[in-house]
Amino acid sequence: MNTRHFLTLRDFEPAELEALIERSIMLKSEYRQGHRYEPLRNCTLAMIFDKSSTRTRLSFEAAMTHFGGKAVYLSPGTTQLGRGELVEDTARVMSRIVDAVVIRTVSHQMVETFATYSRVPVINGLTDEYHPCQLLADMQTYVEHRGPIRGRHVAWIGDGNNMCNSWINAAWSFGFRLNIATPEEFKPDARIMKRAGGWVSWHKDPAAVAHEADLIATDTWASMGQEAEKERRIRAFKGYGVDRRIMDLAAPDALFMHCLPAYRGYEVSEDVLEGEQSVVWDQAENRLHAQKALLEFLVAAQ
Ligand code: CP
Ligand code: NVA
Repeated sequence: MNTRHFLTLRDFEPAELEALIERSIMLKSEYRQGHRYEPLRNCTLAMIFDKSSTRTRLSFEAAMTHFGGKAVYLSPGTTQLGRGELVEDTARVMSRIVDAVVIRTVSHQMVETFATYSRVPVINGLTDEYHPCQLLADMQTYVEHRGPIRGRHVAWIGDGNNMCNSWINAAWSFGFRLNIATPEEFKPDARIMKRAGGWVSWHKDPAAVAHEADLIATDTWASMGQEAEKERRIRAFKGYGVDRRIMDLAAPDALFMHCLPAYRGYEVSEDVLEGEQSVVWDQAENRLHAQKALLEFLVAAQ
């Protein structure tokens, strides 16, 4: 059987994604009841991280600890990748030694190349194009608070970045309407939007997409690697912050989501982030459980 990878949400069938969310909810409940479950005993997860991380790194490491295995963190300065060894060679070597690989890097193509040459599952831990693991946790969080997301209206306000692209993929995988508001210059990738067809629409006006939304989501205006553009971006995104006025346009029981890290007073106001509609801490917690479900599916179940 061909090795399965998780580079974008579209690598999995909608039914597989739904099953992962259900499994994640169950694993969370069992974990909270003190249930010990070690399906990955003696397994090793290699984690190649070219960019900073708090949640992704920690949740994968904790997941492997709970599952009885081990995670090995590799930064560019500590591997031969950082000294020019080819991705193709690294993938062939590493996948003969470990049971799965998580990669966080700039280029999505690098992760695709790695997967092509890997014998073991490769998981995208964030690229400049996508952040699919975050969306597993986000879908779980919505389901836990409000039930199925199918048929709901979601508003994305801010940058058309890697998180936005993954929300676009989630819209057609999970069957919800996604209305995106970004400045013209920071629209999401037209190819990615086009593939999602009628599930997604783009607008300039944040108020228009917030209107009666069931969920409002955002992310930083300056992603990792865009530090030099920060000041220009802050000016360009003026008016795109999620504040009380925006939340009040949404449905009365609308949720607020942010993958974190958050920058208060920019893409989200302090009162919204800390308010009753915000589920950002649950999203962060669910990274652990959703990735356990993912590892179980990709590694233990194969
Ligand atoms: N949301 C997220 O992926 O956070 P980290 O960058 O801390 O991993
Ligand atoms: N868009 C952000 C997400 C961080 C989790 C970034 O790429 O830096």
